[in-house]
Amino acid sequence: MVKAIIAPSMLSSDFANLASEAERMLNCGADWLHMDIMGTINDIRGFNTTFAGYFSNIFQFYMSKSEILVPVASLLRHFIHQHILKPYIDALQDGHFVPNLTLGAPVIESLRKHTKAYLDCHLMVTNPLDYVEPLGKAGASGFTFHVEASRDNWQELVQRIKSKGMKPGVSLKPGTPIEEVYPLLDGENSVELVLVMTVEPGFGGQKFMPEMMDKVHTLRKKYPSLDIEVDGGLGPSTIEAASSAGANCIVAGSSVFGAPDPAQVITLMRGSVEE
Ligand code: DX5
Ligand code: ZN
Repeated sequence: MVKAIIAPSMLSSDFANLASEAERMLNCGADWLHMDIMGTINDIRGFNTTFAGYFSNIFQFYMSKSEILVPVASLLRHFIHQHILKPYIDALQDGHFVPNLTLGAPVIESLRKHTKAYLDCHLMVTNPLDYVEPLGKAGASGFTFHVEASRDNWQELVQRIKSKGMKPGVSLKPGTPIEEVYPLLDGENSVELVLVMTVEPGFGGQKFMPEMMDKVHTLRKKYPSLDIEVDGGLGPSTIEAASSAGANCIVAGSSVFGAPDPAQVITLMRGSVEE
């Protein structure tokens, strides 16, 4: 049987008192501290769309003028997009995976000075590769990136995460099929944890999506000893669905921090997983 791991999500904590909030959770029986790293700048995203659209229109115009120009213009358009625009768009859009802004490596580094706890970092950013080095240095323990943000470079990512001494994990949004993570679980550069999102990533306090339990169940059948984490809307009323499907790492923000007795909620959830 896989070990039960209860990870309060520090997104629901009082950020101004992060160190004491972390200590409070550990005293209540937490195994890991879940750290949500995310961000966005909506204005720049709008700017990018306009910018790319502008170039696209110019080429469309030339393509309609002459048939000879069609293949040339289309090649040129592709070249400009891939080699000139894309690097800028990627750079400008980094950290735009979800519509919220939380914390980064400097905060992890500060917290690390106050605790030896396992810091389970959940990266909701567009370019996770950029954060491996700083988070490794800051003292992160686990590095879970999103499969939607790493389709081209997950092997390199896993390799680098391991080389920095962190545990590599992959997460998937509710709309992403479970099959997408299979390649990351087999072979040399495999991840050691799968985080199945049970809400749309971005905010705490949302409603648990029970239909995500099919993914957990399928994964558990295929990988009996894998760490399977669930995140979003977990608490006393939803833990049973998650644990019976086979999840063993439970992230819970509002249900733990909002409870009059967080230790009781943590104990209850652990009991359900270990049942
Ligand atoms: C959401 C985050 C979660 C969030 C969970 O994007 O990944 O970790 O804090 O919060 P609750 O448990 O309140 O749904
Ligand atoms: Zn999370």
